[in-house]
Amino acid sequence: MDENTTRLRASELEDSGDAGNNPTANLTMGEIIAARFNRRDLLRGSLAVAAISATLGQRALAANEQPAKKGLSPSFDFKEIEAGVDQTHHVAEGYDAQILLRWGDPLFPDTPEFDPASQTAEKQRRQFGYNSDFVGYIPIDGSSDHGLLVVNHEYTNEELMFPGVGVQDAKDINFSKMTKDLVDIEMAAHGGAVVEIRRRDGRWEVVRDSKYTRRITAETPMDITGPAAGHDRMKTAADPSGRKVGGMINNCAGGVTPWGTWLSCEENFNGYFWGKVADDHPEAKNYKRYGLGSPAYAWGRFHDRFDLAKEPNEPNRFGWVVEIDPFDPNFVPKKRTALGRTKHEGAAGITNQDGRYVIYLGDDERFDYVYKFVTAGKVDPQNRAANFGLLDEGTLYVAKYNADGSGQWLPLVQGKGPLTEANGFKSQADVLVETRRAADLVGATKMDRPEDIEANPQTGRVYVMLTNNTRRKEEQVDAANPRANNAFGHIVEMVPQGGDHAATAFAWEVLVKCGDPSVASVGATFSSETTKNGWFGMPDNCAIDSQGRLWISTDGNNAKATGRADGLWALETEGEMRGTSRHFFRVPVGAEMCGPFFTPNDETLFLAVQHPGEAEEGTPATFETPATRWPDFKDGMPPRPSVLVVTKQGGGKIA
Ligand code: FEO
Ligand code: CA
Ligand code: CA
Ligand code: CA
Repeated sequence: MDENTTRLRASELEDSGDAGNNPTANLTMGEIIAARFNRRDLLRGSLAVAAISATLGQRALAANEQPAKKGLSPSFDFKEIEAGVDQTHHVAEGYDAQILLRWGDPLFPDTPEFDPASQTAEKQRRQFGYNSDFVGYIPIDGSSDHGLLVVNHEYTNEELMFPGVGVQDAKDINFSKMTKDLVDIEMAAHGGAVVEIRRRDGRWEVVRDSKYTRRITAETPMDITGPAAGHDRMKTAADPSGRKVGGMINNCAGGVTPWGTWLSCEENFNGYFWGKVADDHPEAKNYKRYGLGSPAYAWGRFHDRFDLAKEPNEPNRFGWVVEIDPFDPNFVPKKRTALGRTKHEGAAGITNQDGRYVIYLGDDERFDYVYKFVTAGKVDPQNRAANFGLLDEGTLYVAKYNADGSGQWLPLVQGKGPLTEANGFKSQADVLVETRRAADLVGATKMDRPEDIEANPQTGRVYVMLTNNTRRKEEQVDAANPRANNAFGHIVEMVPQGGDHAATAFAWEVLVKCGDPSVASVGATFSSETTKNGWFGMPDNCAIDSQGRLWISTDGNNAKATGRADGLWALETEGEMRGTSRHFFRVPVGAEMCGPFFTPNDETLFLAVQHPGEAEEGTPATFETPATRWPDFKDGMPPRPSVLVVTKQGGGKIA
């Protein structure tokens, strides 16, 4: 069968549309390191040896099946699960994984029970949404047993949600199976949720009559704040102020701030817009750089604002980081434009030594960039309200990785360097609306799809998940970053100069190149203590627990090719065990692993199972014939993306 007719449009979007929209001649990480090793090669005569010894801060290069050697002390002691794939989830022995919230679960006392055969947008607005990605836990009164769960609902799979729709033919550009009612359900299933949860007698439960419960959708009224607010490029027929927008879309990962707000990140917003602007339209270059023009959804057929022919400025109002106060259900979410407009993966941050807040940001596209935002003001731990404007003022930087293991954060500030009026940047609003083009001009380093980035508060080191990049070519290959056709991704560790996250200098090295270390041609670099179950590919979301340990969830393991599903792995970053990975949890067939997030006491781990039952390439899966009916396993009930809570049997930390 024609591949185009069987691949899901939404999945292609998640996989970054195969676009690779960066047209610049900026050096890729591979090119930089190739340059570095070309010089060294003259001296050493061996690219491979030079590259490996110079760039891998770890012990060994091959996997085996041996347990940890005597004398080495791993920081994790759970017994790892077996890698594999089947219709359900698996967690390490001695732990419970409880399904807490499923797509369609009623969130309010008056919400009817979920019935996929009689779903409506009105019901969906009161139910848990689809495809949860980021999960954050915000304690109430500092508790690890009572708090607010904030969850992103990234996107929808119409073929699995709705009876009779089936896998739509990609050539059917009008999405003829979709109706306005179905589109409106999809819009209501996007966005996010705030849910109060409590642990009683060891079991977590949802508080159904909570005053905090909230569903945010693709239509929830939001404010646009920061330097781009009110700019002409943000104005539409429905919003002549350029300061009000309906909803958020494709919210992937995110973050939780120390002042207890939720940062939710709009990622592949491009896939929702129909139509085109003319080649000489002022936004033509902008929209090309963000990959508009191949809609994955039918929304533009029923809602004019998602059609460029009718509303050419609407895409400029998406692609932002949204800040939400989960403690106030009437809070108007704020799109914080100072943090730039990209395909934002996440927004995890850290309070810097001087009190400023620093947020690390990945732009998930092949050959796109790593960013950070440094607030102008300082976090005020005594006055919560004083922190609500913090994200509107500060400096956005993009990362440049030098060949010698040093790096610079390059400021994206109008008037500085090439960010001039002559280059189309008349104001900081222009720089932010076209963040990617600004970053192109200052000479940022092209990366292999930057996903989640997290700073370890105990060591100050920063971990960058680079999920994969199968477009990287042989001549761009080196040992420190990418491989050609980098199918499994890698992780870069960054060390801010002097432990100062606001500093513009940093050092970096590759922590691990992912994939199966027993296949030499893959070139993976897990430590030799890593078992055949312990390696992973396609790092995506990550979390650092309160003991400073790194946990990584994956997206994209093709079970047909590798025999393993996505899941959660724990990765040693310190000492002799550095580079050793261990398998903790795996998802059912077709799914991607999201979350992860720990309570402050490390006793509860929140995970999300996204798009369970989705087809693997070439195998249609539909509402009628899903690849699994997880987690209900009932006839007529499709698979349901869900959030799980993992706890240790008998209590205690997840270790
Ligand atoms: Fe939605 Fe970059 O993953
Ligand atoms: Ca996702
Ligand atoms: Ca992701
Ligand atoms: Ca991903």
